[in-house]
Amino acid sequence: LESIRLPRMMQDTALAACARGKKIALVPTMGALHEGHLSLVRAAKAENDIVVVSIFVNPAQFGPGEDFERYPRDLAGDKEKLEKEQVDMLFLPEAQAIYPEGFKSWLSVEGLSEKLCGAHRPGHFRGVATVVLKLLNIVAPARAYFGQKDYQQSLVISTLARDLNLPVEIVVRPTVREEDGLAISSRNIYLSNDERKAAPVLYRALSAGAEAIKNGSSKIEDVKKTIHQVLRAEPLVTEIQYASVYDPNTLDELAAIKSPPVLLAGAIKLSNIRLIDNLVLNDLK
Ligand code: PAF
Repeated sequence: LESIRLPRMMQDTALAACARGKKIALVPTMGALHEGHLSLVRAAKAENDIVVVSIFVNPAQFGPGEDFERYPRDLAGDKEKLEKEQVDMLFLPEAQAIYPEGFKSWLSVEGLSEKLCGAHRPGHFRGVATVVLKLLNIVAPARAYFGQKDYQQSLVISTLARDLNLPVEIVVRPTVREEDGLAISSRNIYLSNDERKAAPVLYRALSAGAEAIKNGSSKIEDVKKTIHQVLRAEPLVTEIQYASVYDPNTLDELAAIKSPPVLLAGAIKLSNIRLIDNLVLNDLK
């Protein structure tokens, strides 16, 4: 596993590989790698010539009071996992190299970035969009891989790639779950034992909403009530930031559930820990 820290060196290496006709895959991450990331790596390995994983805890996507400082970091463990998967290159830039003094160019994907998670994390998707565009420019991948767990992030990135004519295919892969349904996330290590036991409630609530739709509920109020009832039955849920049924393209809450696909998505706090999850229904029956 070759580690590269300097953006210019990464870019030179990547462009030389492109010139030799190699298809590069990028799996952008913030480290603390888990099975969700590894499923992206495996897909990238199967479909491309060279796999680059980036690890960069992007300060620009954390708001004041969020968990930038304590975000889990485990470089030694991450390297071991990537070596096992036979990843070709690790891009490991310093914050100074990504945002040098005088950095001024920010990218906003308007309309999508303010909804759902964006309403609770102002500036988050601007930070994500900017760093992802930079990573795509540095690594020059033919394909870049993201997890559906961060549905809104995937949509923001697919939209910017389309709007800005980026020569990259954005691949979104299914959420990987623990046996009890909890979506795997680097932040799950923040959960205490009791919180960990309660955490699958979000998946259960969204699944109950999906079940109600499949049983013929077309009224948004009914489905939303089902989701919220499951969430409120769990005493450790301290806040429901949003949980409902949305248009998967615009992220607007649906007025009525008429035709697929629909997005069931939610963000809650368990004590002080924020969890998100989503399900896309491609079939309402
Ligand atoms: O999903 C993540 O880990 C991050 O948001 C990403 C895409 C690596 C950008 O910093």
